[in-house]
Amino acid sequence: MVETLPKDNCGPQHVAIIMDGNGRWATQRGRPRLFGHHAGAKRVREIVEACPEAGVKYLTIFAFSTENWKRTQVEVAGLMSLFRRYIFKEMQAFVKENVRVRFIGDRPGLDDKLRALMDEAEELTSHCTGTNLTIALNYGGRDEVARATRRLAQDVRAGKLDPDSVDEETLPRYLDTHVLPDPDLVIRTSGEARISNFLLWQSAYAEYEFVDTLWPDFSPEEFARLVGQYGGRERRFGGVKP
Ligand code: IPE
Ligand code: IPE
Ligand code: MG
Repeated sequence: MVETLPKDNCGPQHVAIIMDGNGRWATQRGRPRLFGHHAGAKRVREIVEACPEAGVKYLTIFAFSTENWKRTQVEVAGLMSLFRRYIFKEMQAFVKENVRVRFIGDRPGLDDKLRALMDEAEELTSHCTGTNLTIALNYGGRDEVARATRRLAQDVRAGKLDPDSVDEETLPRYLDTHVLPDPDLVIRTSGEARISNFLLWQSAYAEYEFVDTLWPDFSPEEFARLVGQYGGRERRFGGVKP
């Protein structure tokens, strides 16, 4: 069977970003790591605002991983408090800018107050039709696949799903990202060339860009440049050029 390849030379519809380097940015300035996280949070708005012009309909950002609990209690508590304040403060701005907010990750692992704010932000922006901003909070790709598999198995046990029908279209329906398209481009800042458990299933055919810039220095111009660069690449999805 000859499959038609998706069209090349158009921009990425979905960009995912591993926002890394906040700690080093702060250390370089002789400041505590949380200072870097606050500076990093301020960057998010500008990148979200740059999406419509860049033609990016979906932006997914990695804010806290399931592995980040290993950090000091001071840093973790500071980050949780930053997330609460950030969501509370930005919610109205997102509505005004027509940004639809969603969260992915393991919610039961987060505190009640933060979870309530996440629900509120999702609800408040549910009618927004502009940029789709997804924030990965207490997110791990392996954890997500494990949780999805658990729910899939529960459906099999309940007689709602025939195990013989399970194929590669089935599992994504159980992933946190089930309403999102797969990312076309994954960007990681801070010079590290690894994916640290981010969107493992979904990024199977994504393009990757690793840039040296530390996240608090990442600008809308650099974002636009990386998005523009993507348009020139040829994605084959395992096929050959027609
Ligand atoms: C990314 O910055 C933000 C989070 C993981 C919460 P880091 O805190 O990992 O910064 P570096 O990598 O230590 O510089
Ligand atoms: C990945 O960054 C997670 C986030 C950006 C939230 P890390 O700094 O936690 O990743 P590692 O530890 O360098 O792999
Ligand atoms: Mg890091």
